[in-house]
Amino acid sequence: MTERNPLTVKPLMDIDKIRKDFPVLHQSVHGKPLVYLDNAATTQKPNSVIEAISEYYRLYNSNIHRGVHQLSQKATDEYEAARQKVQRYLNANSTKEVIFLRGTSEAVNLVMNTYGRTNIKAGDEIIISEMEHHSNIVPWQMLAQQTGAVLRVIPMNDKGELLMEEFKNLLNEKTKFVSVVHASNTLGTENPVKEITGLAHEVGAKVMVDGAQAVQHFKVDVQDIGCDFYAFSGHKLYGPTGVGVLWGREELLIAMPPWQGGGDMILSVTFEKTIYNGLPNKFEAGTPNISGAIGLGHAIDYVTALGIDNIHEHERDLYRYMEQKFLEIQGVSLVGSAAKKGSVFSFTIDGVHPHDVGTILDMEGIAIRTGHMCTQPVMKHFGVPALSRASIGLYNNYEDIDCAAEAIKKAAEFFS
Ligand code: ALA
Repeated sequence: MTERNPLTVKPLMDIDKIRKDFPVLHQSVHGKPLVYLDNAATTQKPNSVIEAISEYYRLYNSNIHRGVHQLSQKATDEYEAARQKVQRYLNANSTKEVIFLRGTSEAVNLVMNTYGRTNIKAGDEIIISEMEHHSNIVPWQMLAQQTGAVLRVIPMNDKGELLMEEFKNLLNEKTKFVSVVHASNTLGTENPVKEITGLAHEVGAKVMVDGAQAVQHFKVDVQDIGCDFYAFSGHKLYGPTGVGVLWGREELLIAMPPWQGGGDMILSVTFEKTIYNGLPNKFEAGTPNISGAIGLGHAIDYVTALGIDNIHEHERDLYRYMEQKFLEIQGVSLVGSAAKKGSVFSFTIDGVHPHDVGTILDMEGIAIRTGHMCTQPVMKHFGVPALSRASIGLYNNYEDIDCAAEAIKKAAEFFS
C-alpha cells in the first residue's frame, strides 16, 4: 500500500490553484480527463504567458532595436526585460552574456560553429557523455568530422550514472571541450556538472552544459557551476516554443566570431568591410522571436513567483510516489535509477512494446512519451529499441500518478 506524499507535512504549493492557471489541462481526451505526463518533451503554458504573447500582438507588435516609434520602443523594452529576467534566473554576470535563439539545439550548434570551429583542430579531443540527447552528440560529431578532432564518450553504469573515474581518465592536454547534459531527459540523472567543470578546467578545456531538463526543476547558478556555456529551451520552462537561451562567459563570447550574418548583428556594413555589433546582438542576426522571448520572460516570472525550490520539493515528492506506485505493477521495470535523479520515470513492461503502452494510455486520456527519446545510445546501453516515459511538471498531482498507474496496470494485464 503506497502512501501519498509521505515526506511533506504540508503541501508546499497549492496545486489545485496552480492547475487553474494552465487552460490546456482542463479538457477531455478520448472522453477522459487529460493527464499530462509528457513534460520532458514540452511543458504546458500558464495564462500569464499566453496573455503576454497575445498582448504583444494585440497591442504593440513591432520590430525591436530599429524604430524610434513608441511601439518599437515598447517591444524593445519588453524583449530586453526578458533578457534581464534570464540573467537573474541563471545568476549570470551580465545581460551581454544572454543570447536568445531557438532553443538548446541551436545553442549547441552555435557554440560548435563559432567557438568550436575557431578553437578545435585536428587531434584535439571533445568529450561528451553516453547519456546525451542527439542535440549534444551530432553537432560535436559534425565538428570532429570536419576538423579531424576526436570525440570521446564518458560511459555510464546501469543505474544511469556517469563513471567519473572514466571521465578523469579521458581528460588530458588534448581535451579542448567537454559538453554534458545537466539532467538526462531519458534517465532523469542529475549530473555533477560543477565537479565535471572543475576537472575539465584543470586541463584547460572549456565546458558546455545542456540545461534543457534542468532549469524547470531546480535552481541553476551558472557562476556556481563555473561552466563556460549553458543552454536551455523556453518551451520546457513553461514558455513558448521557438525560443531558448545560450549563456556564455562574456570574454569567450567577445572572442568568438558570429555564426549567422544579417540585421542587428552589425554596427556598420560596406562592401569592403563589416563591423560587428557588440554582445549580445552579435549573435542575434535577423528579427528574433520577439513574442517568444517576452513569453519566456513571463514564464520565468511565473516559476520565480512559485519558487523553484518549492517546485523542486513538490516534484521530488511526486516522483518518489510515482516510482513506488509504478514499480508495484507486475512486469514494469525502471530504466534509470541514479542516486540523484528526479521527474522522469522511463520504463519497460515485459512483453509490451512501448508504442502499445503509449496508445493504451492515450485512450485513457494520459499523455506520455514513447520511443527512443532522442537518445539512441541510451537505448543501446540498456538493450532496448524504445522506452515509455512519464515525466512530471509543477502542476502534476497525486491523482495524475494514480490514473497513470491504473492505465499502466491495464496495459500490462491486457498483453500478459
Ligand atoms: N527532448 C525532448 C524529449 O525528451 C523532446 O522528449
